[in-house]
Amino acid sequence: MKRFSKIIGTGGYLPETIRTNDDISKLVDTSDGWIFERTGIRNRHIAAADETSASMAEIAAKKAIEMAGIEAGEIDLIIVATGTPDRVYPSTACLLQQRLGIQNCVAFDIQAACSGAIFAMSIADQYIKNGAADKVLIVGSEICSRLVDWNDRGTCILFGDGAGAVLLDSSEEAGILSTHIHSDGEYENLLYCPNPQAATDKNQAEKGVITMRGNEVFKMAVNTLGRIVDETLTANNMEKTDIDWLIPHQANTRIIAATARKLKMSMDQVIVTLENQGNTSSASVLLALNEGIRSHQIQRGHVILLEAFGAGFTWGSALIKY
Ligand code: ACO
Repeated sequence: MKRFSKIIGTGGYLPETIRTNDDISKLVDTSDGWIFERTGIRNRHIAAADETSASMAEIAAKKAIEMAGIEAGEIDLIIVATGTPDRVYPSTACLLQQRLGIQNCVAFDIQAACSGAIFAMSIADQYIKNGAADKVLIVGSEICSRLVDWNDRGTCILFGDGAGAVLLDSSEEAGILSTHIHSDGEYENLLYCPNPQAATDKNQAEKGVITMRGNEVFKMAVNTLGRIVDETLTANNMEKTDIDWLIPHQANTRIIAATARKLKMSMDQVIVTLENQGNTSSASVLLALNEGIRSHQIQRGHVILLEAFGAGFTWGSALIKY
């Protein structure tokens, strides 16, 4: 019998404090008009001093578990995607496992920058399809505000904090139809964040902040996401019109609009959370999925295309029948 990974719950968490474009224009030479026109962002949430990726993940995960109506102890595998782990080790997934009071499941982190949630879905889908796991909890949780140089107007306008979660269960019904993930380390220099603790003598002076050649990343993102749309449709023998919803990584409205145009989709069929969340890296697609489902825009039976692009470069898609 064929096994699929079915979504049984989603959750999200955004910290209380909001930083507006006007707040940022007091820190660097920019304006609400410039930021909104070039990115689609107006506000982003900023984690409180005592919040961490694990604490935010816990809140998002509990909401997904509640929606699914299961006990946390039924979870077989936890995968956390994060670029801002609480500790180098143990993994944030192990910290989350402890917070959820689960003793005997497998838990590990993955690092694929903004594509992390899609990579995690791809891994989870393999475990579920081959029978190694039934219930898998995926969380993307990020405190980007602590990696941002608040003096760099090319990056500090973009990022926000938050956590998104999805719970998958094995099912005879579709489910995740396919996932497609890719990496190309060639472009490391266009988007990176050094780890000063692991620096060599040569790069010791580098600060642990996000460094990006935004315009070059932008062009790569548009082209690459266009290609992955074709790859996903071809693999499933589907037409553009078969897709009900696009759930893109929330980096820039102009990148999102380009992908929607490629799919000949109206922006009404795209879940956009960017305006009030900014780019929450690996949390962004899961936060948008949660919003689409909880607002009842996405209904059972709808076909949704999730896609993301991030540092690495990494990129990927997941085609899902909800
Ligand atoms: N306010 C005002 N002016 C600005 C700002 C700002 N915040 N930032 C840049 N500018 C200026 C530049 O200095 C430049 O001025 P110049 O023409 O006098 O030299 C001009 O605006 C144009 O700069 P560009 O960098 O070409 O602006 P662009 O339209 O590309 O927008 C942006 C910049 C928003 C960063 C865009 O390139 C972008 O969104 N890039 C992609 C980000 C992304 O998708 N990242 C991947 C995921 S992140 C992850 O994986 C961690």
